[in-house]
Amino acid sequence: MDTPKFYNLPKLAYDYNALAPIISEDLLRLHHEKHHAAYVNGANAILQKMDKARTDNADFDTKAAFKELSFHIGGHLLHSLFWANLAPPGKGGGEKPSKTIAKVIDEEFGSFDRFKKLFSQTAVSAEGSGWAALTFCRKTNRPIIMQVEKHNTNVYPMFRILMVLDVWEHAYYLDYKNDRGKFVEAFWNIVNWTEVNKRLEDLLKS
Ligand SMILES: [Fe+2]
Repeated sequence: MDTPKFYNLPKLAYDYNALAPIISEDLLRLHHEKHHAAYVNGANAILQKMDKARTDNADFDTKAAFKELSFHIGGHLLHSLFWANLAPPGKGGGEKPSKTIAKVIDEEFGSFDRFKKLFSQTAVSAEGSGWAALTFCRKTNRPIIMQVEKHNTNVYPMFRILMVLDVWEHAYYLDYKNDRGKFVEAFWNIVNWTEVNKRLEDLLKS
């Protein structure tokens, strides 16, 4: 198997200054190189600890390890999805949804504007650190909004994540101070709907 046994920090598909002024170069660099990297390293450290325990035939604190692993893997995977569902304004970012994603949003939420309002409310009202996500349920074929606490609480098992928005303070404080609402409003200018639609169409084909 060529698949790596550990997690890697993905490269961004755009330059660190490409999302400005919505997300400044300093903020994006810090968020990707420090915060996201910490989750990758955190998850890998636990995997290494578990590998060592296997080699040594030793026990480890499973409750603590799996709680921490869930947090770090959640952080890593959500950030990976987040970077890829963003694009520079005017270069794929901030257009309106089209094709399949536009249709399912209209059907479920009534209109794109109503969806935007509900998703924004979800992001703004996340307690403490968390995420807003648009997911898709294959049992009901509905797009469903999810409000994640931290990186791993309130997650619907098996629902594919189509789009996420990070509302941890580290995602906006440097540019927006405590004004999370302003950051959430600005987020719509960098959503990469082509990627969100691709995630949905890939799921529907699978
Ligand atoms: Fe983050």
